[in-house]
Amino acid sequence: MVLKCIECGREYDETELRYRCDCGGLLEVVTDLERVENVFDGRDVTLWKYESWLPVRKRVSLNEGGTPLYRLKNLEKSLGVELYAKNEGANPTGSFKDRGMTVGVSKALELGMDKVICASTGNTSASLAAYAAKAGISAYVLVPSGKIALGKLAQAIIYGAKVVPVRGNFDDALRVVVEASRELGVYMLNSINPFRLEGQKTIALEIYDQLGFVPDNIVLPVGNAGNISAIWKGFKELYASGITDKLPRMIGIQAEGAAPLAKAWKSGKPFEPVEKPETVATAIRIGNPANWPKAWRAVEESGGLFESVSDDEILRAQELLASGEGLFVEPASATPLAGLMKLLENGELDRDESYVLITTGHGLKDPNVVVSRFTLPEPIEPTLEAFREVMG
Ligand SMILES: Cc1ncc(COP(=O)(O)O)c(C=O)c1O
Ligand SMILES: [Zn+2]
Repeated sequence: MVLKCIECGREYDETELRYRCDCGGLLEVVTDLERVENVFDGRDVTLWKYESWLPVRKRVSLNEGGTPLYRLKNLEKSLGVELYAKNEGANPTGSFKDRGMTVGVSKALELGMDKVICASTGNTSASLAAYAAKAGISAYVLVPSGKIALGKLAQAIIYGAKVVPVRGNFDDALRVVVEASRELGVYMLNSINPFRLEGQKTIALEIYDQLGFVPDNIVLPVGNAGNISAIWKGFKELYASGITDKLPRMIGIQAEGAAPLAKAWKSGKPFEPVEKPETVATAIRIGNPANWPKAWRAVEESGGLFESVSDDEILRAQELLASGEGLFVEPASATPLAGLMKLLENGELDRDESYVLITTGHGLKDPNVVVSRFTLPEPIEPTLEAFREVMG
């Protein structure tokens, strides 16, 4: 397999250690579609079922993928659409990042690297730390100081990564990581690493495998903009291989305070980074998404759109998923539902279509967001009488 620049088309051998083209463009793995196997029988779904679609030969695995695809019947009644959630919180470390890391860390070993690094809003660091532990190599993770959810921080620490808080936001941390990967012989596993996106494209393969058809729309949160690019690549490869005859629309949702793509899309003005991103959805608190050109193409090619939602809308959607469907997701992962509700209401999306929400991370990653919003009642005496009074 080769790596191809999405800007100038130049090709590089996949064994070459590089993250960008000499022209500065993002790289993409060119999948050999002669080699891929049609394994889509709806059974025994796991990420490595799709090995023939992946550009690695080693395998560092914690049994990722095979996540549930729920039909959201209660929400369907109120929204009037056919609605599913692909629950990526069910991955080994609780987010979709495990799909990228099983492939990325396997690639690191293939390339002979024994040190890996990433900048992270939290989930990437948790995932990298776990897979590096499994592989027996060193992990370094740079996180925005004070702006990472408690559960994710705990994961990175206990998996044994070197956790380095950075005075600055994700974009600042990523700049340091890019330089470190150039100067210090550490392998970078942020989502500009094209091999990570290959793992993440299996979300598309699994959705098709589990549903037995390609849905009309995929709705997902957008932060550094890797996942939307990866899932689109998965659907395009299914289509190009002749296995499917339809492509979904890609709908990318950002948080209002960190929405450079939605802003450019809706205003028709050129893309411009957001200087000081801010949102309760810390996973997507990113002002300068590194993969934005790939994401832009995914939305444009698929006939989709970008939208943004407020923190209040995100928290309301988080509550609706949990109390209405038994699905507890972190705030970033509630943005797809918040965005869908907004777009249905203002008539930009149709009610007679099918929608798959990608719920990207588990709710327990960020318990503080929930407990700080709700206050418990005063304690009662331990008697039946006291309970009867408050039972309601
Ligand atoms: C839970 C969650 N959702 C969504 C995203 C955004 O994904 P991407 O950066 O690939 O756009 C992230 C990224 O950190 C995340 O952790
Ligand atoms: Zn190039």
